[in-house]
Amino acid sequence: MEILGIDIGGTGMKGALVDSETGELTSERFRIPTPKSRKPDDMARVFKDIIDHFNYDGPVGCGFPTITKHGICKSTSNLNKGWLNVNIKTLFSEVSGLPVTVVNDADAAGYAVMNYGIGKGEGGLVIMITIGTGLGSGAFYNGKLIPNFELGQIPYKKHRKIEKWAAASVKKRKNLSYKKWGKRFNTFLELVEVIVCPDLIILGGGTSKHFDKFEKWITVETPVKASHLGNHAGIIGAAVAVLHDT
Ligand code: BGC
Repeated sequence: MEILGIDIGGTGMKGALVDSETGELTSERFRIPTPKSRKPDDMARVFKDIIDHFNYDGPVGCGFPTITKHGICKSTSNLNKGWLNVNIKTLFSEVSGLPVTVVNDADAAGYAVMNYGIGKGEGGLVIMITIGTGLGSGAFYNGKLIPNFELGQIPYKKHRKIEKWAAASVKKRKNLSYKKWGKRFNTFLELVEVIVCPDLIILGGGTSKHFDKFEKWITVETPVKASHLGNHAGIIGAAVAVLHDT
């Protein structure tokens, strides 16, 4: 089955058609920058533009960069505060006229790696970490998603959330070397390890492609692997989420 997956981020909104059996993209990826306002109506318009671009008429899966509880936005994170308590599923279904499934973006990326990537067949507790504007996390126990793990929200020193100190956006903004940033990221993984004691940590998001550049600063005991699906994981997982919608 071919499903349109849309991965919404703080800087870009990206979509592609995905073969839900193989997890492969069957179209080019199409990206529109996230509107500067990051407000619901503006972003809903872009959501529709992406669907129109593909001339698509079927169920749409969407990865969204906040806590999404039963389709409702329960944190605003890097988006406009106006998103709080918005029913994203209803808003996007109305604007597109299509059935829409909404999940947290890191949960979506996790679906992709657990179904088609290096997480396939992994038992125990697997934590997917997406490194981007924020630090997203998806938790899978024996392959089943435990939704909305928000490990990037752990407070650290003077920071209300550790993602404000250790995400890829901080590396970029402060022009940190891989060594400096890698040590910060390792501090984050140390906290993850002590709090949830995972069996495996899988890294996703653009920065995970450069794992070889910061791997030597990662000293946690838990095995850590890069996902290899890179930026496509969010789109693939968003599409797959449609199949898990109940
Ligand atoms: C949000 C998460 C999201 C992550 C990655 C964080 O700021 O709280 O829900 O998964 O960013 O986009």
